[in-house]
Amino acid sequence: MKVAVLGAAGGIGQALALLLKNRLPAGSYLSLYDIAPVTPGVAVDLSHIPTAVKVKGFSGEDPTPALEGADVVLISAGVARKPGMDRSDLFNINAGIVRNLIEKCAATCPKALIGIITNPVNTTVAIAAEVLKKAGVYDKRRLFGVTTLDVIRAETFVAEAKGLKVDKVRVNVIGGHSGTTILPLLSQIEGASFSEDEVAAMTKRIQNAGTEVVEAKAGGGSATLSMGQAACRFGLSLIKGLQGEANVIECAYVEGDGKHARFFAQPVRLGKDGIETILDYGKLSAFEQHAMDSMLDTLKADIQLGVDFVK
Ligand SMILES: NC(=O)c1ccc[n+]([C@@H]2O[C@H](COP(=O)([O-])OP(=O)(O)OC[C@H]3O[C@@H](n4cnc5c(N)ncnc54)[C@H](O)[C@@H]3O)[C@@H](O)[C@H]2O)c1
Repeated sequence: MKVAVLGAAGGIGQALALLLKNRLPAGSYLSLYDIAPVTPGVAVDLSHIPTAVKVKGFSGEDPTPALEGADVVLISAGVARKPGMDRSDLFNINAGIVRNLIEKCAATCPKALIGIITNPVNTTVAIAAEVLKKAGVYDKRRLFGVTTLDVIRAETFVAEAKGLKVDKVRVNVIGGHSGTTILPLLSQIEGASFSEDEVAAMTKRIQNAGTEVVEAKAGGGSATLSMGQAACRFGLSLIKGLQGEANVIECAYVEGDGKHARFFAQPVRLGKDGIETILDYGKLSAFEQHAMDSMLDTLKADIQLGVDFVK
């Protein structure tokens, strides 16, 4: 398996690359690209770790050499939030970066599974889809917005609050990846029940967890280490699916049946072509149904912004 990380010299990119160097299946190849000139050095640094994963770094204007033969591409290239910004403030810079990188993916590795980390994910995934479509290579089973950080945050916070074993807690998070579009399905967690106040407070904490990090880092960036972990979990799941492992399930922001919005974060079963099946996310509580109904205008507007950008 060849995994390419674009934005590999950044906070997320380096954490992700370190985790992948340690956790990819033996014989894999890790390809790192960033415009930052340090990137080949990041790869040399990682190459001294004794695992059976080859790593090579590329910098400069053209990502093509890093993308050749890639099975999975994870994109965290772009700028991150500073205090006072929300994810939509990143649109002006990151939209163009994602468009340009996806054009290169379309030309060089059109069959790769692509996971987009760069914010605002609600919009950058729509941009990626439109660029791939324009190039005639769009396959909705192969494009993912990485929302795994919302999932691992929900799992951590719920386990802490309810005294559960953190490795046993599973939480589906549906919708999108910003503010009120992040909807953790707390009513479905086995072994945990919440009062109405607790549901409201826990949902809000999960929705605002990114801001919690941005403020704590006080101008030094947004979540990088937890995001590296989340992207590693998601990337490894993509690979397990590609390698034919059964029943690999993750939530991700993908193009589904369009029942709620063209792109929607939901649980999917992963397989040899990316998404094998879009899974039912089950019955919503009244609180969750209301939250879902209320988010859809925002989510649809975020998606439209991406579509219009490419047009
Ligand atoms: N999906 C999520 O849950 C989630 C969570 C946290 C952060 N993010 C987003 O991930 C992105 C990266 O965050 P970070 O903290 O790693 O930022 P960072 O500034 O530390 O790193 C970004 C990297 O992208 C590189 N870059 C910029 N333009 C590029 C281009 N055209 N080609 C290749 N590389 C390029 C920069 O050189 C830098 O190394 C941000 O948009 C952030 O909002 C997403």
